[in-house]
Amino acid sequence: MLEDNGSIRTLSVDIGGSGVKAIVLDITGTPVTERKRLDTPQPAKPETIINAIAVLASAQGEFHRVAVGFPGVVRCGVTETAANLDRDWIGFDLESALSQRLHKPVRVINDADMQGFGAVAGKGVELVITLGTGFGSALFVDGKLVPNMEMGHHPFRKGKTYEEQLGRAELEKIGEKRWNRRLDKAIASLQSLFNYDYLYIGGGEAVRVNLQLPLNVKLIPNITGLLGGIALWRN
Ligand code: BGC
Repeated sequence: MLEDNGSIRTLSVDIGGSGVKAIVLDITGTPVTERKRLDTPQPAKPETIINAIAVLASAQGEFHRVAVGFPGVVRCGVTETAANLDRDWIGFDLESALSQRLHKPVRVINDADMQGFGAVAGKGVELVITLGTGFGSALFVDGKLVPNMEMGHHPFRKGKTYEEQLGRAELEKIGEKRWNRRLDKAIASLQSLFNYDYLYIGGGEAVRVNLQLPLNVKLIPNITGLLGGIALWRN
């Protein structure tokens, strides 16, 4: 039996191309443990990543349910794409597998969607992009998510996608100055397409953004990816 609702704790997990992170949130979404991170195991197969999550979970104390952000399309707990992880993820029922492993109910959504829940104000058109190994994206209308929007694999410029032009591999190749110039172009392109009220930029590489940003564009801290986990259990 669970205690009263107020003491329900959620283990929030962010699976990334370079790191797997976890934290425990209270019922209001406030962290009650310190965020811990492990390098994403290689090869990044379902089994190795589930092992990493189990290790992180065992160091996080008590929790009653689990929220996971996964770097690919997720439908009904099944991972359908995994551009920066092993191909074994395609068609994998992560929700069931992790639930069996941790003996707790699990909900899984796309990592950028989860990050978005941690960032948006819930009014108007809000777009979220995440800059890390991959390029994540999430669109919200009055706080309601349009799920699995995969901007990263959409053409951006010169026959390349947003992820090919702005992902971490490209940042390392072309350096921060050129990468920032490209990002500036991407922001302009997204503004003209979505006419968003706000654009939030998160992910591990957001700290390398060095641009004069328009007033409706905000940088968000990487921990937002984990804070959004509470939204998966809101209803
Ligand atoms: C994936 C997205 C994910 C993004 C950030 C992309 O390669 O296709 O689903 O949100 O990386 O991790």
